[in-house]
Amino acid sequence: MQTILALETSCDETAVAILRDSNGHSGSELLASEVASQIAEHERFGGVVPEVASRNHLLHAPRLLERAIRTAKINIADVDAFAATSGPGLASSLMIGASIAKGLAIGFGKPYLAINHLEGHLLSPFFGASEIRRNISLIVSGGHTMSVFVRGVSDYEIIGRTVDDAAGEAFDKVAKLLGLGYPGGPEIEKHAREGDPARFDLPRSMLDSDNFSFSGIKTAVRYLLPKLKGNYLADLCASFQQAVVDVLVRKTIAAARKYQVDLVTISGGVSCNRELRRQMRQACRQENFGFKSAAPWLCTDNAAMIAFAAMLRLRHGFESSVTAEIDPNLALV
Ligand code: KG4
Ligand code: ZN
Repeated sequence: MQTILALETSCDETAVAILRDSNGHSGSELLASEVASQIAEHERFGGVVPEVASRNHLLHAPRLLERAIRTAKINIADVDAFAATSGPGLASSLMIGASIAKGLAIGFGKPYLAINHLEGHLLSPFFGASEIRRNISLIVSGGHTMSVFVRGVSDYEIIGRTVDDAAGEAFDKVAKLLGLGYPGGPEIEKHAREGDPARFDLPRSMLDSDNFSFSGIKTAVRYLLPKLKGNYLADLCASFQQAVVDVLVRKTIAAARKYQVDLVTISGGVSCNRELRRQMRQACRQENFGFKSAAPWLCTDNAAMIAFAAMLRLRHGFESSVTAEIDPNLALV
């Protein structure tokens, strides 16, 4: 049995989780998962301010750490390995979580694992399982949009990525244009539920490429807005959401066919979107592919996914040096 404590501080969420691995037989058990969001602090600046984010991580992390240990009913000396997100993300934010995890690893003489944030998302649809399966993984978050051929733990091939905005960024920017709150994804999804997705014909960019592009659709919404009168909010949200979902589903299914996998997974903040989940599941069923999405609470940034990635890596014999650097631009492969 192994207990792993992980910290996630790559952007504006401070998170700590404790995961217990039951030796691979029955998967793992989450003993604690704490997340402190800084949304309110950054909302007034209209975006994440790195200096504010890192100060908040420093403020929240020790409190969350204490709470996680209390909730998990363990002694910190019983933790078998300490992990932290080492990138990609904001340098000054990554430093806080990584420094705490390294300090604990050194202090207690235990292994340290530097985890790629994207690997955390990518493995999250398998959370709790003892192994992962070959699949096409779509990572869709506020910072990333990427399709990946997953052969196994740490065996990844990037198929396509966004050449401009991430899918979540498009949701956030369009929400801002429409005067909706931050983060934009849940706001747009809420209004879209009442709208007609076929009313506005918005562009589906780069359909013939493995890569993604979402800045064109944002621009299309910007030019369309001044021409609109009357009641259009719900229809525009629904049409925008449908255009993004169309692109994500079509490219993911094309990749699954090309790489001959029988499983599609989705993760990251945008994978909370119920229409995306529904349409991806439906498309997978038509093609006879299995479909797995991360549980909604695991879609947005959290430390449980980092602990899970660390657990799988540890089981596959990976460990990091405590001198391992954080890397704001860390690539998945
Ligand atoms: O994974 P995440 O928490 O942070 C990053 O690593 O970026 O993703 C946050 C992003 C935001 O852009 C947010 O608008 C989007 O995920 N998001 C959604 C939904 N919930 C969150 N996008 C569409 N529909 C949603 N329901
Ligand atoms: Zn993320």
